[in-house]
Amino acid sequence: MNQVKEKILVLDFGGQYNQLIARRVRDFNVYAEIKPYTVPIDEIKAENYKGIIFTGGPNSVYDMSSPHYDKEILTLGIPVLGICYGCQLICWMRGGKVETSDTREYGKIDMTVDKKSSLLFRDIPDSVVWMSHTDKIVKTPDGFEVTAHSDNCPIAAMENVSENIYAVQFHPEVTHSEYGNELLKNFIFNICKCAGDWKMESFIDNTVNTLRKQIGDKKVVLGLSGGVDSSVAAALLSKAVGNQLTCVFVDQGLMRKDEGDFVENTFTSLFDMKFVRVNCGEEFIKKLKGVTDPEQKRNIIGTEFYNVFWNKIREEANGGFFAQGTIYPDCIESGKGDADKIKTHHNKVKMPDDIKFDDVIEPLKDLFKDEVRRVGELLGIPKELVWRQPFPGPGLGVRIIGEITETKIKVLQEADAVLRDEIARSGLDKSLSQYFVVLPDVRTVGVMGDHRTYDHLVAIRAVTTDDFMTADFARIPYDVLARVSNRIVNECPNVNRVVYDITSKPPGTVEWE
Ligand code: XMP
Repeated sequence: MNQVKEKILVLDFGGQYNQLIARRVRDFNVYAEIKPYTVPIDEIKAENYKGIIFTGGPNSVYDMSSPHYDKEILTLGIPVLGICYGCQLICWMRGGKVETSDTREYGKIDMTVDKKSSLLFRDIPDSVVWMSHTDKIVKTPDGFEVTAHSDNCPIAAMENVSENIYAVQFHPEVTHSEYGNELLKNFIFNICKCAGDWKMESFIDNTVNTLRKQIGDKKVVLGLSGGVDSSVAAALLSKAVGNQLTCVFVDQGLMRKDEGDFVENTFTSLFDMKFVRVNCGEEFIKKLKGVTDPEQKRNIIGTEFYNVFWNKIREEANGGFFAQGTIYPDCIESGKGDADKIKTHHNKVKMPDDIKFDDVIEPLKDLFKDEVRRVGELLGIPKELVWRQPFPGPGLGVRIIGEITETKIKVLQEADAVLRDEIARSGLDKSLSQYFVVLPDVRTVGVMGDHRTYDHLVAIRAVTTDDFMTADFARIPYDVLARVSNRIVNECPNVNRVVYDITSKPPGTVEWE
C-alpha cells in the first residue's frame, strides 16, 4: 500500500498467529503487512519499514530446511522484534545457543521481568504469558541481555538496546498473554517510534483518490453478491467514481427471504452507480429439476451462476476495469509455502479468456475483515449488510436436501426469516457465528387442531466458531428455541416440526450439503 506513511513488516516464518500479529499492530492505527520469509532483502530495504516483527514458526533453527533469513536484516538499523521461533532465530543468527528441551512448554506460564527499565517491558509487571515451544535459548548472543524468565525458560526475553533488537519466547499477540498488547505497543511506539495515524477514515480518503486517478473517465464493473466484501468494495468505488461504476448482481433465486430486493434497494437508493440485477431463479430451478446429488447440485448452481454472470459482464464491459472485493486474508502469501497459498487464494475469481479489461482493481486487498466492516460502516452501508453472517455461494441450495423446488425454497425462506428475527430480538446475533434453517427431505405426522398433518420438518443450525474450520453447536437458550419453534409452525405453512442440530464440526460440517 503506497500511500501509507509508516509500516511495520511482519516477516512470516510459518507460525499460526501471524495474521493476528498484523491485526494487533493495526489496532494501534499502524499499518502492518505480512510477507513470507522468502521475500528478498532488497524488497525490505526499499520499503522504509519502521519496524520488523519475526513471527513464530513450527521449526527448529538448527534444521537447515526450516525457514531462515539473511543475517543482514539485523543490521539495517530497523528495530526488530522476534517472537517464539523468531526469537530463537535471532539468537541463532547472532551466534547464541538454542537447545531442544526434553519437555514442551505450553500454555499459560508465569513470567518474571528481570529488567524493569527495558523499553519493551515498560509498565509491564511479572505476569502470565502464553508459551508454545520445545526449543529454547540457553545462551544469549554477545551484546544481548536477558530481560525476562520463567521457571522452565531462563531466557524468556532478551534485547540488544544499542542495535534495537528485541526478542520474546512467548506470544504477546494472543490474548492469554496478560500484557501482550502493552508489549507490542511498547515495541511499536517506544522503540519503532510510530505515530499511529493510520485510520480507516484516511484509508477511505486515500483509496478514493487513488481510485479516481487510476480509473480516470473509464468504466468499472463489479460483481456484487450482497456479501460484506463486495458490498464495501461497491460503496468505495461509488464514492470514487459514481455512475462510472456498474454493479452486476445475479439473483439466482436461492437467497434468503427478500434479500435480493434489500440489496437492490440499498445500493440503488444510497449509492450512485449503475445497478444491474439479473433475476434467473426460474432458469436455475429448471436446471436443478430432478437433481438430488449434493455435488451435482453444487456444480450446476456454480456453473450456471458464472455463465449468467460472465454473459452479463460481456454485455456491460468494453474495456475499462474489473473490480472485485478480494480482502487481505485472500492474498497473503503464507510463510508455510505453496500448499497454503492455493487455499488462501480461493476467493479470487477466474475470468474467461475472451473477456478483456485494462486491469483488475481490488480496493480492499490490504484490509482484514473487521477493517472492511469498519470501512463499510463509515461509508454508510446498513448494519444488516456490514454485519451479515457468512452465506454460502450456492445459497439455500445447500440447505435444501433432495430436489430443489420453488415451493421448498419458499418454505425454507419463511422459516429462516423467523429464526433470524428471533435471534436478533434475543440479542444472540452478536455471539453466534452462523445460524440458519435447513430443509431436509423429510415429512412427519403432526396434529393441528383436530386434524392430522403430514408436512415438512425443518432443522435449526447455529454454530459458534473462530475460523469455521472447527465449530461448536451454539447453546441457544431453550426459551429462545421454543419461541422459534412456535412461530415457525404457526407462521410457515407446510411446516409441522422443528428440530435442533446439536452436532459440532467435526464430525459434522456447518452446512448440511
Ligand atoms: P462447512 O459446511 O464446510 O462450512 O463446514 C464452512 C463455512 O463455509 C461456508 N460454505 C461456503 N461458502 N461457498 C461459500 O462461499 C460454498 O460453497 C460454501 N459451502 C460452505 C459455510 O456457510 C460456512 O460458513
